[in-house]
Amino acid sequence: MAEFLLTFSAKEILTKVISLAAEEFTLVLGFKGDLAQLHASFLKIQAMLLDVDHSHVRGVTLENWVKDLEDIAHKADDVLDEIGYEVLRRKVELRNQMKKKVKSFFSHNNPIAFRFKMAHKIKRINKSLLDLNDEAAGPIGLVARIQADATSQDVEVPDRETISKFYNDEKLIIGREEVVSDIVKTLTKSNDSAENYPPVLAIVGMAGLGKTTLAKSIFHESKIDKHFHVRIWVCVSTPFEVKTILRRILESLKSEEAAIQGKEKICNLIQKELKKKRYLLVLDDVWSEDPHKWEELKNCLSTVEDTRASSIIVTTRSDKVAKVMETLPRCDLRRLSDDECWLIMKDKAFSVGSAPMSKEQEIASKEIAKKCGGVPLMAKVC
Ligand SMILES: Nc1ncnc2c1ncn2[C@@H]1O[C@H](COP(=O)(O)OP(=O)(O)O)[C@@H](O)[C@H]1O
Ligand SMILES: [Mg+2]
Repeated sequence: MAEFLLTFSAKEILTKVISLAAEEFTLVLGFKGDLAQLHASFLKIQAMLLDVDHSHVRGVTLENWVKDLEDIAHKADDVLDEIGYEVLRRKVELRNQMKKKVKSFFSHNNPIAFRFKMAHKIKRINKSLLDLNDEAAGPIGLVARIQADATSQDVEVPDRETISKFYNDEKLIIGREEVVSDIVKTLTKSNDSAENYPPVLAIVGMAGLGKTTLAKSIFHESKIDKHFHVRIWVCVSTPFEVKTILRRILESLKSEEAAIQGKEKICNLIQKELKKKRYLLVLDDVWSEDPHKWEELKNCLSTVEDTRASSIIVTTRSDKVAKVMETLPRCDLRRLSDDECWLIMKDKAFSVGSAPMSKEQEIASKEIAKKCGGVPLMAKVC
C-alpha cells in the first residue's frame, strides 16, 4: 500500500486543481465549475485514503480499489495537464501576437470544442471517483478521516470572488464610473417601499463582464460606506444553500457566532445584529433560479427590524435569476468598447517602469483588443 501512496498523492492533484482554478484563463475557458467538482471528489477520496493504513480490511478487494483509484488519478492528472497546457499555450499565443503581426487569435483554435471535450472527461472522472467512494464506504468499509494537519488551504479552492476587497491587480477599473454613480444614487435615496422589502438590484451579464468588479466598486464607494451602517458581502455561487448564506451573513456581522448550527437560530442572531440598522447586502454570483430558495432567504431578511432603508445587490449571469429576485430597475452590464479593453490590456502589459509601448505594439494590441468582445476578463488575460 505504501508503494501506491508513494506513486499517487491526492494532495498533489488537489494542488494542481487549486493552482489551475486560480488562473483567470480557466474562467475564460469555462472550467471553474468542473474543477470545483473535481476538487470536491478528490477531497472525499483523500479522506478515505487516510483510512487505508488504519483499515482492517485487506486483500484483493482493497487492492483492486486502490488500483482503480490509481488509474483514475492518472487520468485526472492527464486532463489537468492538458488544461494547464492549453492555458499556457493561449497565454503564449496572445503574448506573441502582441509582438508580431496580428492574425485572428480565436480562429485557429476552437475553445468550445476543447471545453466540451475536457468537461466530458472531468465528468467521467468525477463519476468514477463517486463510484469508488461508494465502494470504499460500502463493501470495503473505509471511514473518511480528517487529516490531522488539515489547514483551510487544503480544503478550499481559493476564489477571488469570495471576498469584497480588491486585489492589487484589480484596482484599475475602466468605464464603469457612470453606472457606479447611478447605482449608488439609487441605493442611497430614501427607500421606504413597504411592499417587496428589502429592495433588490440585479447586475446581469455574461461571465467575465465585470459584475463582481462593479459590485465591489459600489461596495467600496465612500457614499455607500457613509449611508449604510453595515455592509455584507456573500459569494453565493452554487449551490444556493439558504442556511450557508445565512451563516455567511452572520459570520460577517459577528465572526464568533460562526459555529451556530440551526437555521432559525442563525436567523434570530442576524435579526438581532441588524436591528435598527441600515444594511447593504451583496449576493455575488447567484445561479439558483428556484423562487422558493429566494423566498426562504427573504423570509429571514424581511423580518429584520431594520431602518427600512436597507438594500440588496445581486450579481448573476442569468436573466431568470434576476427576474425572480429583483425589485429595482435592473443593471444590464454593458460590454466595454474596444478602446476600453485596450486600456486594460495596456495596463496589464506595460506596468509602471516598463518601456513605453512602441507604435507597432500599439497597433497590434489594438487589433487584439477588438477580439476581446468588450469583455474585460478577456482583455485582462491577454
Ligand atoms: N471595468 C473593468 N476594468 C478593468 N478590469 C475589469 C473591469 N471589469 C472587470 N475587470 C477584470 O476582469 C476580470 C473579470 O471580472 P469579474 O468582475 O470577475 O467578472 P464577472 O463577475 O462578470 O464574471 C477581473 O480580473 C476584473 O479585475
Ligand atoms: Mg463574478
